[in-house]
Amino acid sequence: MAYKVLVRAEIEPYRTIIPMIEAHCQIHRWNPLNQQPPAELLGSIEGVYIYGHYAFTTEFMDQMSALRVISNFGVGVDHIDLQGAKERGIPVGNTPIVLDGATADMTFALLLAGARNLVKGDHFARSPDFATYDPSFMLGQEVHHQVLGIIGLGNIGYEVARRAQGFDMTVLYHNRNRNPKVEADLGARYVSLDELLGAADFVALNMPLTDETQGMIGRRELGLMKESAVLVNAARGGVIDHEALLETLQAGKLHAAALDVTEPEPLPRDHPLLTLDNVIIMPHLGSATEQTRQAMAERSVDNLLAGLEGRELLSRIV
Ligand code: DGY
Repeated sequence: MAYKVLVRAEIEPYRTIIPMIEAHCQIHRWNPLNQQPPAELLGSIEGVYIYGHYAFTTEFMDQMSALRVISNFGVGVDHIDLQGAKERGIPVGNTPIVLDGATADMTFALLLAGARNLVKGDHFARSPDFATYDPSFMLGQEVHHQVLGIIGLGNIGYEVARRAQGFDMTVLYHNRNRNPKVEADLGARYVSLDELLGAADFVALNMPLTDETQGMIGRRELGLMKESAVLVNAARGGVIDHEALLETLQAGKLHAAALDVTEPEPLPRDHPLLTLDNVIIMPHLGSATEQTRQAMAERSVDNLLAGLEGRELLSRIV
């Protein structure tokens, strides 16, 4: 008998996902932006496949008495009430590891782009203003042999540190817990948040969004950073106070900020951050490669089926 699964997605899932789920399950779709599934349907749902970032709360879990698994496409699960799922004995799957390389690559791409004025330079080179080569123009910041501070040293942070080796960078990190592996393998040094912010030429944010990290980079923290520094956010927009970031960038107190994510996401189209040329903003593409999307699809569908079949989930956060 086919399992009853609710695919909750505000956009069409990556192309291989629906066929993989459909091979074993009867799919009911739920777009949280414009539709609320009927209560009688919710009561019969055995698995929820979540795609996107709209909150999944206990209000919904409590209407799903048959629910046996929640599977998230993505590693970040800040939109799911994990405590609520735990209390109800519902396992939650996510997709760590498979996206570490792609997300670390994007962190580094942003770091390099911010340091070397890649976006600003591209816009200028296309414009009529580019009339002649000028050796004093648009000078960036050196990357090699500089200090990289990583906040959030999990699997992605480790991969970022590994990439920094190729640029002969000194790596500092700050994390809830020390990470002996990154210290032993890569010589990264654990420091306090304030020491990291004061010493780093590049600050990479790679932590999850939690109650502890919400707004972690605010006015005080930005004020500790070097004016020549580049701030890279490949985590979640909510870890930065965007008002404080705006003021800092407007005052020229950072070389650049390079953001894969913002809060809210997207920013309102008239948000003043969008007018600044010392900020790079991406539409949340950290893990967006063909290869990684496929790996995330396979892992998340496997988690879903495992929960439905009573097997242990390959990647279980709760
Ligand atoms: C993740 O895996 O959390 C990415 O940000 C996509 O949601």
